[in-house]
Amino acid sequence: MEDFDFLQDGDVYLDAACQSLRPRPVIEALNRYYTEHNSCGERVKYAWGRKTDELVEDTRDALLKYLKLKGKDYFVSFTLNTTYGINLLLDQIDAKHFAKVMTSDIEHNSPFLSTMTFARRHNLPREVMIRERDGSINLANYDFKKALVVVNAASNIDGRVLGNLKELVKTVHKQGGVIIIDAAQAMAHSSAILEKTEADAICGSAHKMYAPSLGFMIIRRDLMKLIDTTFIGGGMVDDVDKEKYQLSAESPNHAYTKFESGLQAWGEIIAFGEAIKWLEKRSKEDKKRLAECSQRLFDFLKSQPKVHLVNEAANPTTTFYIEGLDSHMLGAALSNEGIMARTGYFCVHYYLDHVMHYPPLIRFSMGYHTRSADIDKTIEILERILG
Ligand SMILES: Cc1ncc(COP(=O)(O)O)c(C=O)c1O
Repeated sequence: MEDFDFLQDGDVYLDAACQSLRPRPVIEALNRYYTEHNSCGERVKYAWGRKTDELVEDTRDALLKYLKLKGKDYFVSFTLNTTYGINLLLDQIDAKHFAKVMTSDIEHNSPFLSTMTFARRHNLPREVMIRERDGSINLANYDFKKALVVVNAASNIDGRVLGNLKELVKTVHKQGGVIIIDAAQAMAHSSAILEKTEADAICGSAHKMYAPSLGFMIIRRDLMKLIDTTFIGGGMVDDVDKEKYQLSAESPNHAYTKFESGLQAWGEIIAFGEAIKWLEKRSKEDKKRLAECSQRLFDFLKSQPKVHLVNEAANPTTTFYIEGLDSHMLGAALSNEGIMARTGYFCVHYYLDHVMHYPPLIRFSMGYHTRSADIDKTIEILERILG
């Protein structure tokens, strides 16, 4: 817990699904960039720039290694966030290749809305698949022929995972489709599901992985033949004439430049590399503590007659509402006690409001910073509120 020693006694941060708290080593890596080698990557030849290039490269490698993917099959580009990555792909992918676009009912607005605009712009049908209660997709119910599929690997409502992701990827590929994974919620605590995946693209947010605010895209090299680069500018070209240019991405070693237009967030990228190392170092005890905190909170909520849980199982991300109590008011009451939790629909309006007809909800999302005492305090206050 010393890595989160800036947390004040009494502060209970339960919004890690939105953005994780950043541990000390990550903050220090960001500071080192600013104080020791503040420089542009990719462009400068002086020593600071070389150091930046080296560390940025380390982050790309670390991210592939984190998911057990090989550099010969995939490359890593950095973006603003998951939303930006998915939109960059949907805006530039060759729509003529597809007969339809598919997503699922429990998606965050980021894939949900971008698939909607993709369908509208290209006059293609859009299908919203129904996820099973455990998060999987019943493959027998769908035809993936020439489909562009965009789905999450883990939900931001209750952490349920796409357990049959590997079968889905195989089925989509067999039927001539392409699959983009929204990995925003899976990367920090459920990354095993994405290991050795053969998905065409994985978009995520470093800020949900104990790193600074930053997005990433892990792109299968094969996918490049379907991308027409239109979002373009500095840092992406080797040569420019009056009416034509040569993209640096044509060289396999610089494929990542395909999506990195303009100056990048070098310090954040470098600190992201530190966050990946930090995540890989989490001990059995760290994982056990997170699992125990999740279970204790879940068991308590389940035992309360007035609590309606969305989760079917314990998860670091747990969502519910209390009968007869407005969740926004509950959130404000908890805030007065130092407990920081999210209220509303968490950008999953379609499923939570229009399919499930839930009232606004409250979400507790934990991380490795969560202490057992945080859960004691949360339970004690909820007991008081519930009477
Ligand atoms: C499952 C999921 N997808 C996408 C996003 C969007 O992430 P960002 O806002 O970092 O683009 C989120 C954010 O909470 C999410 O939980």
